[in-house]
Amino acid sequence: MIEEKEYKQRRERVANSLHKNSIAVLYSALPSIRSNDTEYLYRQNSNFYYLTGFREDNAVLLLTRGKTDIASYLFVQKREKRLELWTGKRLGVKGAQKKFRHDNVFISQEFEDRFNELSKVYQHLYYDFGLDEKRASFLRTKTKTYTSYRNIAPLIEKERLIKSPSEIKLIQKALVITQKAHHYAMSYAKELKLERVLQAEIECIFKKNGAYSDAYTSIVACANSANTLHYISNNKELVNNELLLIDAGCEYEYYASDITRTIPVNGKFTPTQKELYNMVLDVEKKIINMVRPGTFRSLLQKRSEELLCKGLIDLGILKGDLKKLLKKKKHKKYYPHGIGHWMGIDVHDPCPYKDEKGKEIPFTAGMVMTIEPGIYIDKKDRSVPKRFRGIGIRIEDNILVTKSSYKNLSQEIVKEVDEIESFSS
Ligand code: GLY
Ligand code: MN
Ligand code: MN
Repeated sequence: MIEEKEYKQRRERVANSLHKNSIAVLYSALPSIRSNDTEYLYRQNSNFYYLTGFREDNAVLLLTRGKTDIASYLFVQKREKRLELWTGKRLGVKGAQKKFRHDNVFISQEFEDRFNELSKVYQHLYYDFGLDEKRASFLRTKTKTYTSYRNIAPLIEKERLIKSPSEIKLIQKALVITQKAHHYAMSYAKELKLERVLQAEIECIFKKNGAYSDAYTSIVACANSANTLHYISNNKELVNNELLLIDAGCEYEYYASDITRTIPVNGKFTPTQKELYNMVLDVEKKIINMVRPGTFRSLLQKRSEELLCKGLIDLGILKGDLKKLLKKKKHKKYYPHGIGHWMGIDVHDPCPYKDEKGKEIPFTAGMVMTIEPGIYIDKKDRSVPKRFRGIGIRIEDNILVTKSSYKNLSQEIVKEVDEIESFSS
């Protein structure tokens, strides 16, 4: 649980980071249409949520910073029986005031007038430059001409970089649920026939255990499908003797988890699968061990490329001199993605990797990053010994930077060969 006090502190920090004489507008996410008359499950805009904890649509947050004072205004959908019949109860002004102890709460219909009124006082306008065109053009053209227009998103995303203890607790809770799903897959994949049925079982476990949804569409990729990095169709069979890459994590109370495990469908690795798997696992563990305050993601990236390239040479998948192969980026064919990314309210948390001067931001206690090396060998790749073709392996954990080193938040989700094998026996 994140207390209202924490949301208030976040709003204050962001308001104080605005230029003096500014007004900032942040909208709730728009509901998204799946097709005629049907919508996707609503998910609040992450920056809006970070500052408000408010989960309803049709809402706006206004922050102002004058010469000496800051203020915050929340606009929410009015309670209306006619609308509540279709989409359920709303908090309304009173409910929002009570729940969020937010001083200035109004109905959304009042936003335009109040915004116009407040606009007379301030010179600079902040809004999210990623905003949809309709709302952006309202702000830019229908209201007064400001001295400057600035993007609010980077100011909030910078704040999101360091997770508070209560945020870390929610990520840990998400991981406890995600662990159940991955361990279920290790035990029961052999009893299922289709990738999408396993996907449904995983997502059922998420929801049964209190998660709102998955944090991203689960990847359940058997055999060569694992070589399509964002394989989400999950529409093939689970094949005995093949590996199964599962990249799935739930979202719990708006916090993500992002875990990949690669397991044998029938519960037992073949010698070839084991060789390649242990090579990737060894690299993953070494990279995790490098995480500590003061180091950089780019160093982890570089080291993971060196280690995986060396591993590929040792297995006879790449041939030649390590340095030359690295220079020619030959390993990229088999390891084409990054070592990891920030994670938090978003699975790919949009926090900065570089500061305003373009300098890379060093790891600091409270940051959460995924570590996810992988090797992908297409089944048609004739340059590789036949026994390795059609294998895709990724192993992904969620790592918290601590004051002195790191904590693997997902360490309970097993990944050693014998541990995985013992789950299905
Ligand atoms: N699940 C998406 C990723 O690993 O980045
Ligand atoms: Mn992932
Ligand atoms: Mn990831």
